[in-house]
Amino acid sequence: MDYTNILVEKDKTLAIVTINRPKALNALNKTTLEELLACFTELSGDRTIKVVIITGAGEKAFVAGADIAFMQGLTPDEGKVFGRLGHTVARTIENLPQPVIAAINGFALGGGCELALSCDMRLASNNAKFGQPEVNLGIIPGFGGTQRLPRLIGKGLACELIYSGKIIDAAEASRIGLVNRVVPQEKLMAECRELAALIGSRGPAAVQLCKEVVNNGMEMDLTRACSYEADLFALCFAGSEQKEGMAAFLEKRPPQF
Ligand code: CAA
Repeated sequence: MDYTNILVEKDKTLAIVTINRPKALNALNKTTLEELLACFTELSGDRTIKVVIITGAGEKAFVAGADIAFMQGLTPDEGKVFGRLGHTVARTIENLPQPVIAAINGFALGGGCELALSCDMRLASNNAKFGQPEVNLGIIPGFGGTQRLPRLIGKGLACELIYSGKIIDAAEASRIGLVNRVVPQEKLMAECRELAALIGSRGPAAVQLCKEVVNNGMEMDLTRACSYEADLFALCFAGSEQKEGMAAFLEKRPPQF
């Protein structure tokens, strides 16, 4: 499918989605969000794709937020529709069967930080900057930041970022657990591809069950979540991957998934 504001590249079992509005620092307007939704909906049904990387075009920004020029004249009703669209995109990425890696190559502010939060893993380049600067625009984070940020880094640190609107650098983001690690910008995509290849070499059904149980389990109490894990663990024994994986181990050879 042809998109205006995003690029989608498929390389064997890896898909790379690039938000491509570098002149606006890849800000998310309605069209960009609609295209992301269409693209991730398509990827969710693509059984050849095992891992997805999402990044921003250019060397300056991952995504500098929701598009302020687009939002300026919105009515409350239109604001709600726009916020819901952002939420739907974030939820679609979060619920995508395949793991999603955010390759954060620069500013990840507001809706950009929220987009990264909906991914399973975040790798950042050393020039990346993070923040939820919405209060400086007289609004609150609207694509899930008030909920996913405290869940990821804890309430106190999330409140500091959300109430102050301050921008932090990649090293600080790594220290507080907002990103998995920081790498030099020129190595970011190689590092993300390497991680994607490692994940892609494992049992794909098992990896997808891991994603499902981590995400859904985090919304349950521990007793229910562990019982849910036990059910999905049991399910593994109905599939071919468990047979191949364990046979390969015992025969001292690599598994063929
Ligand atoms: N929306 C629309 N356009 C944006 C944008 C955004 N979020 N961020 C940057 N741009 C545009 C700028 O307007 C500018 O366009 P022009 O060249 O046409 O003037 C272009 O991108 C380059 O930006 P700057 O000249 O500002 O670049 P800089 O290097 O001086 O500053 C920056 C970079 C610090 C990221 C700065 O652009 C900035 O503060 N951007 C806004 C960040 C922000 O507030 N994000 C949150 C948005 S609200 C939100 O996301 C709500 C939500 O939760 C859903």
